[in-house]
Amino acid sequence: MACLFALMLNETPHIEWPKEGPTRAPYRVMNDPEIYRLEMKRIFRGPTWHYLCLEAEIPEPQDFKTTFIGENPIIVARDADGTIHGMVNRCAHKGALLCIEPCGKKKEFACVYHAWTYNLKGDLTSVAFQRGLGGKGGMPPDFDVKNHGLEKIRVENFCGMIFGTFSDKVEDVETYLGPDQAAHVRRIFNRPVEVLGYYHQGLPNNWKLYMENSRDPYHATILHAFYATFKLNRLSMTGGVSLGKGGWHNLLYSAAERDTQKDNYEGKNLRSVIRDVGLDDSTFLDRMQEFDDGITVAIQSIYPTCNTQQIYNTLAIRQTVPQGVNRAELHWTCFGYKDDDEEVRRMRVMQANLIGPAGYVSMEDGSVGGYVQRGIAGANEDEAAVMEMGGKDIKPSPGVRATETALRGFWQAYRDLMGF
Ligand code: FES
Ligand SMILES: [Fe+2]
Repeated sequence: MACLFALMLNETPHIEWPKEGPTRAPYRVMNDPEIYRLEMKRIFRGPTWHYLCLEAEIPEPQDFKTTFIGENPIIVARDADGTIHGMVNRCAHKGALLCIEPCGKKKEFACVYHAWTYNLKGDLTSVAFQRGLGGKGGMPPDFDVKNHGLEKIRVENFCGMIFGTFSDKVEDVETYLGPDQAAHVRRIFNRPVEVLGYYHQGLPNNWKLYMENSRDPYHATILHAFYATFKLNRLSMTGGVSLGKGGWHNLLYSAAERDTQKDNYEGKNLRSVIRDVGLDDSTFLDRMQEFDDGITVAIQSIYPTCNTQQIYNTLAIRQTVPQGVNRAELHWTCFGYKDDDEEVRRMRVMQANLIGPAGYVSMEDGSVGGYVQRGIAGANEDEAAVMEMGGKDIKPSPGVRATETALRGFWQAYRDLMGF
């Protein structure tokens, strides 16, 4: 009996994936707490790279920023010699959050609880009352600070985006991205950037539902009334989907000035196309064409939880932070270029009204994941989402955005990592 109990404890949750493969995603992966625990291990501590911050946020020695990989709190710090280090933000004494500020400048990190102190590499440098008082108490003689530093992670700077990983096996970031996705990161980070501001947004759903949403060009002009009504993004515009690492990553792109089939939205009875409405103040739709390729909307997904975003002149990184099986937080970092003049900076800030928790375009994404989470509650074990738009395979889709190829790529990556 004891043996059986031990076996049950060791049992990893397993899923019989539907025979249709990545065109299906069992609803159970969105609401099973055991699967969520396994994701923390196999995906977030697995062979994956995670966006941590922009180099522009920690430009000087002793600058730091706090962030997350999965649920793990992380510190990114620039050492006195300029080297960037990543470490888990968890005191090696009792596990307290070591650095409670979001960003700033520090020579060292001292825990508020019992003052264990660490340098910017994450090494433990001192323990309060290590020798006790008056020769009494204190740590045993064999206690060595060298054995009690913070858990360190690998970090890499790719074009000013700082990535981190727990894995010593995953390839470098550029290889991980693949040539097309690396080229897009270079396109966005073509010169020094400056941070314009942040939004944090609660999501009432599993982290994967947001990552699906941001890979889904099918929904964008149907769910988002603002996009279609004001013709900022329509499926009839020239655009497509490129992939990286066999579909792990992707880029959805479109060019507004190249709307070849303008009439395609007529007569479709789409909720998103609202007639006879205008804006009293349309200044936030002022825009400029700043990329030579004509692309006006480009949303990139870097597996598992990072998006780069260009919606006209609004540039941002989105990072999805899991907070339990049916909760997540979306962290937006809006940026522009250091050489922007006042007018361009103002234009980017005004256009940022399109995005974020109350953004004219993206507010619907903040609730639709919750509708799915509520809809799949109580589903049978064998019920699954269906993703056959644009075919059943995972391949780039130049010229066509009525496709779910990038979602199939997401599920393929998920199965690769989870072993399902
Ligand atoms: S928990 Fe940090 S010093 Fe005790
Ligand atoms: Fe959306």
